[in-house]
Order: sequence, then C-alpha cells, then structure tokens
Amino acid sequence: MKSSNVFRVAAFGDIIGDPGRKAFIACLRAFREKWQPDTLIVNGENAAHGFGITRTNVEEFFQYGVEAITSGNHVWQKKETFEFIDKYPGFLRPINFPENTPGHGSVVINSPTGVRFAVISAMGRIYMEPIECPFHTVEREIEQLKKEGVKIILVDFHAEATSEKQMFGRYLDGKASAIWGTHTHIQTADETILPNKTAYITDIGMCGCQESIIGMKIADSYRKIVQHLPVRFSPEENGPTFVNGIIVDIDKTTGQAVFISRFKEVFGAGPGK
Ligand SMILES: [Fe+2]
Ligand SMILES: [Fe+2]
Repeated sequence: MKSSNVFRVAAFGDIIGDPGRKAFIACLRAFREKWQPDTLIVNGENAAHGFGITRTNVEEFFQYGVEAITSGNHVWQKKETFEFIDKYPGFLRPINFPENTPGHGSVVINSPTGVRFAVISAMGRIYMEPIECPFHTVEREIEQLKKEGVKIILVDFHAEATSEKQMFGRYLDGKASAIWGTHTHIQTADETILPNKTAYITDIGMCGCQESIIGMKIADSYRKIVQHLPVRFSPEENGPTFVNGIIVDIDKTTGQAVFISRFKEVFGAGPGK
C-alpha cells in the first residue's frame, strides 16, 4: 500500500521491438492494479524492430498512458525521428548530445495527480560515443530545474560501464530523486537508496523475448560473437516475453526517494503464439 504523500514512478527498461511493446501493453492492467503507479516512463530506443523508434511507436506509448519516453544510442536509427522529435515534449533524446542537436533531453510534466516532476534522459561515454560530459550536463540541468521549483527529478542514465553508472549515481546523490541505468538490457540486483536519498539501480533490464541475447535472436549473436561474421540483428519474436523495470516512491514534499523495488513479469508465450 502506498502512502498518500508519495509519488510512485514506474520505469520500464528498453522495449525491444514488437514482442517488447506487446508485453508492455499486456502487463499494464494488472500492473496498474498491483502497483498503482502515478506515472509510467519507458525507454523506447529499441521499440522499432530493435533499433530506433517510429512516430507510431511514440504515439502508442502515450496512448497507453506513458508520460515520458527516454532513449539512448539508437535514438536516430529511424530517419523519421528527426521529423517528429520536436513535436512530443515527453519524447527525449540524451541531454548530453552536442548543442543544437535536434530534440531535447529533459521535460517537466504536470501530472494529473497534481505533482510537477522532471525527467532527464542522459548517456554515458565509456565504451560509447564520446559526447558531452553527462555528469556536468545533468548537474547543470538539475540546478536549473530546482531554480524553477521542480523537486522531483528522475534520470535515465543510458550507459555501458557499470562503474560509470555507479559513479553517476554517487555524483548526483541528493540532487536527483531517482537515477536508473538502461542500455545493457540485463537487470542488476543492486537497487538501493543512496545516503543522500536518491534511488539508484545500475540497470533496470528490458522488455522483450526471454530466449534471446539482450532481446536479439541467439543465432544472430552466435554469428557475430562466436563466428566473427557480419550480421544484421533482429529481435527474437518467439517464446516467453517479460517486462523488467523499477518502482520508486518519492516523498512529494522533499523530492527524496523512500522506496525502490525491481519488478520482472514473465508472460507465457510470445506474440502470435
Ligand atoms: Fe537498448
Ligand atoms: Fe542502448
């Protein structure tokens, strides 16, 4: 049972293609009943057949009650993204792309629950593209948001290296309400509330097919990783699907986290089965 003074956030990890979107939609009714979230946030960078996101995907997420879509290194994979990215305030590309990159990396949302909160999408640099510093860029954004009176600030940190993710959590402990990692697609068991009351987890996992390599067909990864041959990856579309993510409760008065829990819901069969 959640207390009336908390704002409950549900964040879902990278949604992989058709199976991921279908699993997310299939879980929603029971998920809402069980957790009673005040907002839904998804990482949508893999929504369009594993790579990028289309306008149709964006509209579908919003139609199902998602309030912010974060992203990462695959955000530009579909050409059409450039055409619509400025049209949806709740659709974010990483904030630490260079200046003048299309789109935006943060949004302030006036929730129907009466709570005003911000979501920031950011990306790491270790084993990834050498973009602007995520630490200083996000710190500056948080300072600005606080000047505007926003107390609840949520950050999706899309990064490869666990060390960079942990450092990011520690660097912004006490500044953000919650920081969760995405991109590796594997949920980590280190969810915690840091000493200065920021909820943190290194990776919240993914939504898609279970019998896969991070959502993609095992045969494709075999060709790439074992055989060292060129491959065009596609998402696995058969077998059980799952949704992974976190629930975070944030004190509405202080903006501090009071609770974090991982979730993993498994469904019996993939789409079309
Ligand atoms: Fe991803
Ligand atoms: Fe990624």
